[in-house]
Amino acid sequence: MNQVYKRLTECYDSIQERIPFEPKVALVLGSGLGDLADRVEIEGILDYHDIQGFPVSTVQGHKGRFVFTHINGVPVVMMQGRVHYYEGYSMEDVVLPARLMKMMGAKILFLTNAAGGVNFSFKAGDFMMITDQIASFVPSPLIGSNADELGPRFCDMSHVYDLDLQEIIRQTARDLDIDLKEGVYLQLTGPAFETPAEVRMVRALGGDAVGMSTACEAVAANHMGMKICGISCISNLGCGMTDQPLSHTEVAETADRVAPVFRALVTEAITRMGKEC
Ligand code: HPA
Repeated sequence: MNQVYKRLTECYDSIQERIPFEPKVALVLGSGLGDLADRVEIEGILDYHDIQGFPVSTVQGHKGRFVFTHINGVPVVMMQGRVHYYEGYSMEDVVLPARLMKMMGAKILFLTNAAGGVNFSFKAGDFMMITDQIASFVPSPLIGSNADELGPRFCDMSHVYDLDLQEIIRQTARDLDIDLKEGVYLQLTGPAFETPAEVRMVRALGGDAVGMSTACEAVAANHMGMKICGISCISNLGCGMTDQPLSHTEVAETADRVAPVFRALVTEAITRMGKEC
């Protein structure tokens, strides 16, 4: 058996009896956006620490647990806290949680993150629906012998972000009167924020937002055939686009400020996805 698949099944086996239900949607909560999981009726919690062989996040303010709930009747597993490549984990570790949620039964992966806006028409506090991504600056999580149990060796990437899910999010934002930007997310390794020259590079390459997560998870989930969608909270403009130096505090403060709008958008979009997909 493929080693990646073997590890995944071992991980899954160690938690199987403790999973209260089969999720339809897997929601990854980004930096500062995790409080959505504190506001739902929690039906089950799995601490990452309690999962055998599971990578555990070290970033301050990142809780590390799966939260199980229903959002207006839709069974959802949320990741409150994710694992980042810059913490020193392998890419296999970083994408293990997303793969595990697929194993639990999730068909849809809803990715969220805090990101730097590099598009001049964006401002801090905006939301950007991810329409496509550039993952070429981080190692692919699919490198190594292919886990045929999960997906094909060479997988199509024409529509990583599902067009139907994009339309649901677009329509939801319109109905809730939320100004939703759209664009391409580019992942860098971090953990340092970009230099002004790197921000210009991201823009020149076609990126609208830059961050340190998400794209690799989408690569692994696309490989497994999940339907994927994503929203970035533009927590700041890229370095050099304003006079201010960047800090993690600013990122967290902006995410906090817009959290209520984010919760409304994500909750309603998931409700509609449950009905329509
Ligand atoms: N760059 C990279 N990652 C980020 C940023 C940024 O400006 N803001 C939030 N996450």
